[in-house]
Amino acid sequence: MTQQAILIEGKRVAETIRAELKDEVAALAARGVTPGLAVVLVGENPASQVYVRNKEKACAEVGMAAFDHRLPASTPEDELLALIDTLNADPSVHGILVQLPLPKHINETKVLNAIAPDKDADGFHPMNVGKMLIGEECPLPCTPHGVQELLVRYGHDPAGKHVVIVGRSNIVGKPLAAILMQKKKGANATVTVAHSGTKDLAGMMRQADILVAAIGVPEFVKADMVRDGAVVIDVGINRVEDATHPKGYRIVGDVDFAGVSQKAAAITPVPGGVGPMTIAMLLKNTVEAAKRA
Ligand code: GUN
Repeated sequence: MTQQAILIEGKRVAETIRAELKDEVAALAARGVTPGLAVVLVGENPASQVYVRNKEKACAEVGMAAFDHRLPASTPEDELLALIDTLNADPSVHGILVQLPLPKHINETKVLNAIAPDKDADGFHPMNVGKMLIGEECPLPCTPHGVQELLVRYGHDPAGKHVVIVGRSNIVGKPLAAILMQKKKGANATVTVAHSGTKDLAGMMRQADILVAAIGVPEFVKADMVRDGAVVIDVGINRVEDATHPKGYRIVGDVDFAGVSQKAAAITPVPGGVGPMTIAMLLKNTVEAAKRA
């Protein structure tokens, strides 16, 4: 069967969410509170620089404050931990985000542990990860939360569906599984987490009602790995060399969009799919933290 999948436009949903947040920020401003997000970037990773710039731009757009902290790649771990202490104590900072990955000499777990759990804009603190797993109220990691929000707002309620997530990262695969398996609204799915060690990975992917690609391999998911009528969510953001583009590269996802969109019922594009949702959920976490503070 050849069909053309419905496009799940994260960019548009994210605009709607930002508009909703703008109203909430205005209501907080009337009470003298400006939600503030501190963004910490260590080093010069080009992709991270783009992400951080987009996050700060989005803050400004909804009327939030962004506090930009760029540190050289050589920054000692102690210095980063000291900065986090300062931000933890600063009442104008409601959310703290340390962009990952960090340089190799810095212990990521130690850094994430240092962020005050109630200022944890990413939901990466082990205490919040634990709360998420047992279904307690907590800030949820932005990308998986954005994926859930996209599915729900496009009428693809995960309840009762078989969701196959390809990728087991702490940022996407694991937390998405935890979120979608909860006995809660917008979840209650049967979740399989597949990865590079999965036997017959293609066969596993073909069993998905909802397939989430978060592997980090450009255009890994091909049409023959997708069931007719599946919903396909592409979390990948990969730079591939392309001399015909002015920048010398273009951005592709983890899904072969041209092929898979002939087979799936609905699919997210890259760019303009999950990416903008990640940022929208980050702003949401920060606004929620400001409301609590
Ligand atoms: N690196 C890639 N994705 C993310 C994210 O959602 N948050 C942070 N802090 N770093 C990332």
